This record gives sequence, C-alpha cells and structure tokens, in this order.
Amino acid sequence: MLPTPHIKCDYDVVYEPSEDSFLLLDCFEQDQNFLKNKFQDQFVVVCELGPGSGILTTFLMQNKIPKRENTLYLALDISPWALEATLSAQERNNCQESILEVIQSDLTGSLRKGMTDLLIFNPPYVPAEKVPERPSGKDERNQWLDLALLGGEDGMVVTQKVLDQLDNILSPQGIAYILFCARNKPEQVAESMRENGWKVELIIYRKAGWEILSVYRFSRLPILK
Ligand SMILES: C[S@@+](CC[C@H](N)C(=O)[O-])C[C@H]1O[C@@H](n2cnc3c(N)ncnc32)[C@H](O)[C@@H]1O
Repeated sequence: MLPTPHIKCDYDVVYEPSEDSFLLLDCFEQDQNFLKNKFQDQFVVVCELGPGSGILTTFLMQNKIPKRENTLYLALDISPWALEATLSAQERNNCQESILEVIQSDLTGSLRKGMTDLLIFNPPYVPAEKVPERPSGKDERNQWLDLALLGGEDGMVVTQKVLDQLDNILSPQGIAYILFCARNKPEQVAESMRENGWKVELIIYRKAGWEILSVYRFSRLPILK
C-alpha cells in the first residue's frame, strides 16, 4: 500500500480529508501503472481542481504518479486557504523536488486550452439549493467550507461546468478523474457524456455510510481512420 501524506491544517477553513479524498487516493494507487504507461514518453501536466488540504496532489507527488520526471503539478482552488494548505502539505511531506504551482482560480479559468494531460476533481458535490457565493475576503472564515461542499441542484452545478469545459482543457491524450456521489446521478451523467463522444469508465466505488461514492475516468474516444 502506498504511503498517505501527513496533513495538518485548519479544518475550520479547509476541507478535511474524508472518504471521498481517500477513495481518490485508492483510485490512483489502482491506476498508477495505467498512468505510467500512458504518459511514459512525454512531459505531463497534472492539474487538480480544488486541492483543499493538498492531500491528493501531495500523494501523487510523493508516489511519483504518473511518473518520476517531466511532470508539472498544478493545484487550482478558489480558496486562498486551500492554496496555503497545499503548499504546506508539499513541504511537510518533503516533496519539494516536484514542480508544483498553486493558483487561485475559479474552476478552470486559469488553464490554457488543451494543456492538461491529467485532470483530477473532487468537487463540491452535496445537493443544495444553490452554490454559495465566493466569500468577499479570506477572513470570512465560516464561508469557505460551504464552497467546498455545496454543489447546487443535484450537487452537479460545479461539476457540470467542468464537464462542459473538458474538451477545451484536456490535451488530445488527456484524461480526467472526477468523483461523484449517488445523488449526482453519475450513470446518467456518464451516459450523456458518452453520447457526446467521450469514453467514460467507472474506476472505483465505495459505500461510505449512507452515501455511495464513485470515481469516473473521462477520455476522448480514439479517432477511427
Ligand atoms: C470536496 S473539497 C475537495 C478537497 C480535496 N481535493 C480532497 O479531496 O480532500 C472541494 C474543493 O474545491 C474547491 N472549490 C470549490 N469551488 C471551486 C471553484 N469554483 N473553483 C476552484 N475550486 C473550488 C474548494 O475550495 C475545496 O477545496
């Protein structure tokens, strides 16, 4: 079993690693050879949207996923607290030799078109009346966690924005791993993405209390010649 990063941050403002975070760690442990083979001969841009505490990006850096060299890790979060936490997780786990850029960004707005090879997102997926407004300042401490959790109608408002941007964001060989809960109706989402020409695979799922969490992998279908 691969080691799990040591994380210490202020969980009043940053999402505490939970079942969903750990399911993603298991997903990447399971898929590490697939990723290594897929990206072996190229420079790889890995981008985590919403790194929160930084546990997942640090896990990837620590365990050289997808590979040891020629990898740039980007961590994009709307929350300044999450960016601080991610840098601190890198340092705490002695991953400074990995190249990591943290960027404050509303979803994928800061990504260049077609640049990302591996996109990862554990989104705010809890169904809610609406997605909360971005707090006006860092010190509005009690509002940042809502943003980490609440995903509007069906918990899908934030995730759908990212799915709608996948074609723009991903490189030609790019893939995305996105986490869902059952209330997001992931099989319906997957079917609709397949109808739009994507290959969508269920990689891992787990019952977590009364919730069922799953991670799907999205990639482009090969072009037939
Ligand atoms: C469920 S937490 C996941 C945290 C971490 N990746 C994990 O698995 O433990 C969701 C993260 O997405 C971030 N987030 C929410 N809305 C965002 C947006 N519009 N743009 C960028 N990040 C966002 C939150 O700040 C939070 O860090």
